[in-house]
Amino acid sequence: MYINKLSVTGFRNLSDIELEPDAGVNIIYGENAQGKTNLLENIWLFSGMKSFRGAKDAELVGFGKDFARTEMHFFAADRDQKAVLTIQGSRKATLNGVALSSPAKLMGKCNMAVFSPAFLSLVQAGPSERRRFLDTALCQLRPSYAELLSRYNRALRQRNSLLGDLFGHPELQELLDVWDENLSIAGDALIQARKEYLSLLSPAAEAVYDGLSGSREKLKLTYIQKTSSDEKPLLQLLKEHRREDLFNKTTSFGPHRDDMGINVNDVAARTYGSQGQQRSCAIALKLAEAQILKEKTNEQPVILLDDVMSELDAGRQDYILNHLEDRQVFITCCDPAPILRLCKGKTFNVKNGNIKI
Ligand SMILES: Nc1ncnc2c1ncn2[C@@H]1O[C@H](COP(=O)(O)OP(=O)(O)OP(=O)(O)O)[C@@H](O)[C@H]1O
Ligand SMILES: [Mg+2]
Repeated sequence: MYINKLSVTGFRNLSDIELEPDAGVNIIYGENAQGKTNLLENIWLFSGMKSFRGAKDAELVGFGKDFARTEMHFFAADRDQKAVLTIQGSRKATLNGVALSSPAKLMGKCNMAVFSPAFLSLVQAGPSERRRFLDTALCQLRPSYAELLSRYNRALRQRNSLLGDLFGHPELQELLDVWDENLSIAGDALIQARKEYLSLLSPAAEAVYDGLSGSREKLKLTYIQKTSSDEKPLLQLLKEHRREDLFNKTTSFGPHRDDMGINVNDVAARTYGSQGQQRSCAIALKLAEAQILKEKTNEQPVILLDDVMSELDAGRQDYILNHLEDRQVFITCCDPAPILRLCKGKTFNVKNGNIKI
């Protein structure tokens, strides 16, 4: 897919802007705090996901403004389309003139992949970031996964709250059996979907990393299931650990405890990786995610790269810019010159929330 035209009003610090991006590389440049990331964040919301900065909807509306509205004209599924996103209290979306029941219904309609410095936490932080990465990727790929995930999370909340209530109420044990059953059906399906996804992601990310590092380093991804030694069905684990769960009032096994291992040259990138290696891992994951989205949907996702070049040596920068052909890319930076030396692109200067070509 690619975006033909974007009109933004009232979004964060952005003034009323109209943008006609190139179908190839678009370089969004300017000094710090001018609105470059805000623009990428605005585009990303059309993926149907929440802000990649973890912002709440209310924070996205410009200070002193009543609402934010963005209109996006894009080409996808072999036709010109239009989506409108309005934020007033909450987010609302229309696609080709039809109001959607939720902005999440845009998932799978406007495919995008984003890299932001916030994604370094994918490598550096605890397992929840990596689970979220897998879940977000799967939600775009298969909208039914979002339903499965919310079914699992609901069952987990119910089970945990029941574990808290059981003390002194043994008659509730039977109810726990029911929630064990619900949780394990959804949980096993989640684990299965994540493993299948990882079997696609691993070779793709490893190939990107190989290119980034000039074949000097090797990336390896693994799905780490808390139970990997015995691979028991979740229901059996829940039963075996019920006593422990009752004591701790929380569920100790399930996909909400799993992780994705990211190793470079056989050691954990989180613990031993250099800044450039950690950044390269996050970029490899993101570019691989985009590649799989393309293979599965036959639609080239729009790539949003926020401040991707810093901390990367010339070889790695060159690899990124030369492996984005045939895709629409939005890339932010302070100085466009080094990027323009490596590839052709349309430039947009962002200054105090205004954008000029
Ligand atoms: N809801 C809002 N209303 C108005 N302004 C906002 C809002 N949220 C953030 N801002 C402003 O937007 C500016 C930051 O924009 P942004 O993060 O896009 O900067 P940037 O150009 O990406 O800068 P950097 O190069 O430092 O990453 C800040 O000045 C901030 O105060
Ligand atoms: Mg920024």
